[in-house]
Amino acid sequence: MKHKLALIGFGTVGQGLCEILINKKSELKENHDFDWEVVAVSDLLKGSVYCPDGLDVNQLLDLVKSDRSLEEYECKSKKAPCEFGWDAVTTIHDSNADIVCELSYTDVKTGEPALTHCKTAFENGKHVVTSNKGPAALKHKELKKLAEKYGVQFFIEGTVMSGTPVLNLARGPLAGCSISAVRGILNGTTNYILTEMEAGKSYEDVLKTAQKLGYAEADPTGDVEGYDAMAKVIILANVVMGADISAESVDCEGITGITPEMINEAKQNNARWKLIGSVEKSNGKITARVKPEMIPSDHPLAGVMGATNALTFSTDLLGDVTIVGAGAGRTETGFSILTDILSINKFQKGI
Ligand code: HSE
Repeated sequence: MKHKLALIGFGTVGQGLCEILINKKSELKENHDFDWEVVAVSDLLKGSVYCPDGLDVNQLLDLVKSDRSLEEYECKSKKAPCEFGWDAVTTIHDSNADIVCELSYTDVKTGEPALTHCKTAFENGKHVVTSNKGPAALKHKELKKLAEKYGVQFFIEGTVMSGTPVLNLARGPLAGCSISAVRGILNGTTNYILTEMEAGKSYEDVLKTAQKLGYAEADPTGDVEGYDAMAKVIILANVVMGADISAESVDCEGITGITPEMINEAKQNNARWKLIGSVEKSNGKITARVKPEMIPSDHPLAGVMGATNALTFSTDLLGDVTIVGAGAGRTETGFSILTDILSINKFQKGI
């Protein structure tokens, strides 16, 4: 089955997705009967291009790698000329894409502009896949209902632990279990910073490297102050544990108060600081928090280093189930979008 993709946002995740799509084109066709064309890319800073016949993705990647605008794209279609300069909403509304990859910047306060992008896509009969935590943390239930109303899919695997299949695990293999708690390391940037600070590097240098490696958010305040982990905790509470919580009810603290002295002191006491996100259900009440915790070195979470994340589900039928994997990164989050696209492909084939 061939899908036409529109990419709203062409930063780290969009580029990572395109690299995977190119490298795995024949494998995806052979193993998953999945074929694709990128018909549109619209990015607030990098420009916008649409071609109903499909774009040359290598050319798009070359343009952004050399800091040139997408509007310098050389159209290769003989049948349909390219359109340039379309904004995100026009691209979603007017393009012939059947799947919209919503990869614009995350705003966890308003969810915009991603919320509008998702709604516009549904109202126009288009599926949405996204790693954007704004809409998922603020309006997941409402968006899921709207998608259902228009007979399309809405998938958000990449919003928690990038491509590590946390939400799919809860929705799929763990269906039938009751989940009473989730607890873990949910932000790659801060775990990477804490790891490197323990190795003696300075907070400022490590944060810069985390940005270069594509771990950190466009505004890394969201990472270091704990808001990114908070959004993930809200998503886990609402999507996995059936709660209906918002930011006001999450006790949230980031890592900016952790000093090199505190890290050394923990080391001397056979412990490590980790930013821990958790949700607990007790007597029907949900408590969610994000806090730095000093974890004893022999605890499994203490060994989770760098941008790796880990999450433990406490279940009634299996006890604790822990998944450890990538929490951030270009390829890792690019993969989360691919996995959601493949779910849509499967769904449409009735598998
Ligand atoms: N900035 C996020 C992190 C990216 O560091 O975990 C993935 O959500």
